Amino acid sequence: MIQLQQVWKTYSLESGPVNALQDISLTIPDNSFSAIIGPSGSGKSTLMCLIGCLDLPTQGTITLNGRNISKYSEDELAKIRGKMIGFVFQKFNLIPTLSALQNVMLPMMFQGTNQKVREKKAQELLTFVGLASRLSHRPSQLSGGEQQRVAIARSLANDPDIILADEPTGNLDSVTGTKIIELFQKLHSQGKTIIFVTHDTKMKQYAQNVITLRDGQLTGG
Ligand SMILES: Nc1ncnc2c1ncn2[C@@H]1O[C@H](COP(=O)(O)OP(=O)(O)O)[C@@H](O)[C@H]1O
Ligand SMILES: [Mg+2]
Repeated sequence: MIQLQQVWKTYSLESGPVNALQDISLTIPDNSFSAIIGPSGSGKSTLMCLIGCLDLPTQGTITLNGRNISKYSEDELAKIRGKMIGFVFQKFNLIPTLSALQNVMLPMMFQGTNQKVREKKAQELLTFVGLASRLSHRPSQLSGGEQQRVAIARSLANDPDIILADEPTGNLDSVTGTKIIELFQKLHSQGKTIIFVTHDTKMKQYAQNVITLRDGQLTGG
């Protein structure tokens, strides 16, 4: 379970402070499928970075499975991220010089998994996302939807409990985007907690739990 209590995130700029998030309190239950929805600039990515242990709140408390992570060091946050959280981004963020297989193997290397196990697991994950026949393709040799599938396979490499996806369908046509959402639904049915961020209000229909943001504040529905 992820819990935010009275969380603020303030960026200090020369022109003055920017409150990217103001007084956010919310709970994301285990094995839920949540959407964070709001227009551009509403604070979605900032919220995702806090939930994903990529950044710390300026004020307030964030609890992950009962642990208060609000004041963790960068090292402690990195450990939690590596074990518990998988990330998927709008621009896929694959390494262009590596094959699909190598891209999926990479996060396991950082966790110290041995080569044979990494390769087998990466193959299984790429098969799961429907890319068994694309293992040695580099990102530039894949379509956008295929690249996002590789990114999803990579996000699963270290068996995270939580998948965080920031505008995962933003660079895809709507048919391909729907397929990607279906893949998240499949992961959800296997027990993962899925949180996706989008500016597209139509995507509400896919989530059980909808969190709407405007100007850094929660709005009701
Ligand atoms: N690193 C930063 N420094 C200063 N301001 C930022 C930073 N990141 C985001 N912001 C500001 O915080 C607000 C929310 O940004 P963001 O979370 O990226 O929104 P969204 O993802 O919904 O488009 C915006 O006004 C943005 O300009
Ligand atoms: Mg954003």
